[in-house]
Parts: sequence; C-alpha cells; structure tokens
Amino acid sequence: MDLRAFLTALDTDGDLVHIAAPTSPVFEVARAIAAQDGIPLLFENLPGFPGWRLASGYVAQRAHFARVLGCSIEEIVPRLAAALEKPGTPPHVEEAPCQEVVEPDVDLTRIPIPRYHPQDGGPYITAGVTVIQDPDYGRNLSFHRLMRLDGNRFVGRIVERRGTDTAWHKFPDGLPMAVCIGLPPHILLAAALSPAKGVDELGIAHALAPAPTVRCKTVPIYVPAAAELVLEGILTHEFTTEGPFPDLTGTMDGIRQQPIFRVTAITHRQAPIFHALLPAGLEHKNLMGMPREPTIFTEVNKVTQCTGVYITPGGCSWLHAVVQIAKQDLDDGARAIEAAFRGHTSLKHVVVVDTDVDIFNPADVEWAIATRFQADRDLYLFIDQPSSSLDPSARQIPGQKARTAKMGLDATLPWGESYEGYMRVSYGVYS
Ligand SMILES: Cc1cc2nc3c(=O)[nH]c(=O)nc-3n(C[C@H](O)[C@H](O)[C@H](O)COP(=O)(O)O)c2cc1C
Repeated sequence: MDLRAFLTALDTDGDLVHIAAPTSPVFEVARAIAAQDGIPLLFENLPGFPGWRLASGYVAQRAHFARVLGCSIEEIVPRLAAALEKPGTPPHVEEAPCQEVVEPDVDLTRIPIPRYHPQDGGPYITAGVTVIQDPDYGRNLSFHRLMRLDGNRFVGRIVERRGTDTAWHKFPDGLPMAVCIGLPPHILLAAALSPAKGVDELGIAHALAPAPTVRCKTVPIYVPAAAELVLEGILTHEFTTEGPFPDLTGTMDGIRQQPIFRVTAITHRQAPIFHALLPAGLEHKNLMGMPREPTIFTEVNKVTQCTGVYITPGGCSWLHAVVQIAKQDLDDGARAIEAAFRGHTSLKHVVVVDTDVDIFNPADVEWAIATRFQADRDLYLFIDQPSSSLDPSARQIPGQKARTAKMGLDATLPWGESYEGYMRVSYGVYS
C-alpha cells in the first residue's frame, strides 16, 4: 500500500480532513497541524506551490499502523518483534511511481518545505527517510531532519555513531544519500527502528507489507518505489550551522555544526504529496516511541511473561513506559523493571502493571499505582545512570552520555496476599 492508497482508505472511512483553504507552508501549515494534532490532514492549496499537496497526521495514531498491518492495536508490537526477527527481501522494479517526474533542474525552493516556528533556523524537512549504502553493513534507513540552505543544499542533523554517521566516515569524498518523503506507514515505522547492524530496515518493512525498491538516477542506492518525492545527493564533509529547531520534548534544540547535503537530482510522482511531521507532535512521538516497544517487550519476556508495552506520549514517547506482565512470581515486577531499562536505554521511568490494567489509559495506570503500589516496598531507584540527551533535566556532560536518576514503580498485585480487596468491581454483569 502506498501513501495515496492509505489516504484514500482513511478518506473512505471519513478519517481524512481535506483543507481546501489556501495555507502557507510558512507557519500556517504548522499552526493548523498543531491545532488538530492526531488527525490526518490533506492540504490541497499551498500558495506558491501549484501541483503540490501536503499531508500530515497520517501516522499520528496507533490505529493507522494497525490498519496498514491488518491487525489490532495490541498486535502491533508482537508483529514488529516478529518482523525484526525475520526480515523479508524487497524486490526491485524498473519503473517506479517515485520517478514519474525527473526534474530537469534542482531547485529546492519549488518544494513546499514548511517553516514550523519563528525561532527555527530555516525551512525543515522533518519526515524525510534517508537511505544510504554502507560498504560493510549494507543499506540503512533512518530519519534525519534537514534544514534547507538554498536551491540545492541542506544541512542535516546527523546524530553521532548511528548508521548514517558511521557510513559517512567511510566516504572521504562524501556519502551518496537519498532522502525519501511521502512514504506509507509501514516504511516509516521500519525506518524508525534501530535493528542490529547489517539488518536492512526496508527488509523489515517488506516483512510487514510490500516495499519494492527502485534504483536512484544519480546515486547507487535503491529506494522505496512508492515514495512521493526523492532527493538524491551527497552528504559532504563541509559543515555549517544547523538549528535551532524544536525537539521531541517540545523544547528548543540548539545550534550545531553539521554536514551539508548537496542535492544532485529530484524525482517525484505526478502531483506529489509532501509529508510534514510536526516536531513534538503525535506523529513524531509515535515514530520515536513505538519502535522501542518491541525491544522492551523482548527483554521483559526473557524474565517473565510480558503481555504489553506502551511508551507514553506524556513521557515524550521516549522517557516513560508502562509494561504489562502476567505475574507468576514474587520478584517478577522488579525483574520486569530492570529488563525494561535494558530494552530501551534512554528510558527514565517505568511502571509495571497487571493484565487487568489498560496500559493505553493513563487514568487506569494511575489507578494501579494508587491501589497496588507502596513506595517503601515497590519503588526501585537507580542513581547516576547513562541517559537520554533529549531530557533537559539530565546532567549533560560534553562529549559523553548524559546522566540521570531512573525510577521503576512495581504497581502489580502484591504476591501471596488475597487479591479480593484489590480487584475492580464491574457493573452490569451479574451471575
Ligand atoms: C521522526 C524522527 C525524527 C528523527 N530525527 C533525527 C535527526 O534529525 N537526526 C538523527 O540523527 N536521528 C534522528 N532520528 C532518529 C533516527 O532515525 C534513529 O536514530 C535511527 O532510527 C537509528 O537507526 P540507525 O542506528 O540504524 O541509523 C529521528 C527519528 C524519528 C522517528
């Protein structure tokens, strides 16, 4: 399923909001997305960009992934865990939608790249999936925000020691790279994963739903054929300032010297659809948090039976998780807490609950803490731990991992007591 088929499916169910009123990519698009965060939007009138449309919010809900995977929301994490275990092999095609139009000239100013916030360093691509070919590990997909500098150059935010950065160091003349925009949900989700080195994220996507590839025109890279827009080019070793730009936490990220991406070709579909992802919005959160859930799920399953994991939006979809277990032993809650921290090293706070608690409902999780948790018995505190650089309250040490205190709350039923007084009454079902 490509993005258009997915939007049509949303539309058929009345889940897509069409915005026919003229909406400028300079601040107006961001304002509209922020006002309706979580709702799929299709902007059909972008003044100054005839022929273009802009989509947002189509991966803002778990239901969107469930729809494309053909499963329930609860089944997404086990499906992802299975695809991570057993990726597929995407086939190549000779003719692809993403190359319907090969632009004769490179002019990035003709693409409706939004400006999100007045403090931003420039217009930003936020939902671009970069594809690179590492000589040792093969293809790698990841997200890198890109700030437009002029008609043919961006500066990228390339976090150190990850797939793109590692490959870039192996190419002294610059790393061939393609940036794909307007991808279907399963490819976005796979691109957000961090599998073991050498595992192709597009193979994982293909295990979830078909993801055929096509060779780029000017760089030796195979990209998802279904993309709406592909920017081909070289990630150079020239540097310039990148930022400021809002981070996942909704706070402003600072300015850094980062590498310049020089664009050599632009290809796209007829009447292309640009994907704009609001920084710190629900799409950003989903794509950051969900891929960590299967890794927590797998780790917790090594120590007890894990029945669900939710990385919560209130915790920036990165720092907080709720883990559900089918408790079978006195220490299962404590074991699950330690395993969850192993499964997602940036995790800061975790709550472990029983199977009768709805992990997707914050009030239900709080109810479990209120009725099953005692701080002097069930609180696990870990001080001075390596942490996420995204947490503004963590102790930041230049050149090193940030440090933080971590906390696990075991809100499962106390072992060995009578559960009678702990169980929730239900109304309307009486035998
Ligand atoms: C929406 C979104 C935006 C992201 N933005 C960036 C970014 O600007 N720079 C970056 O290095 N990583 C960014 N990431 C994280 C990378 O995609 C992530 O580190 C990558 O999946 C790691 O995979 P790798 O180690 O296989 O490269 C972002 C992730 C998501 C989901």
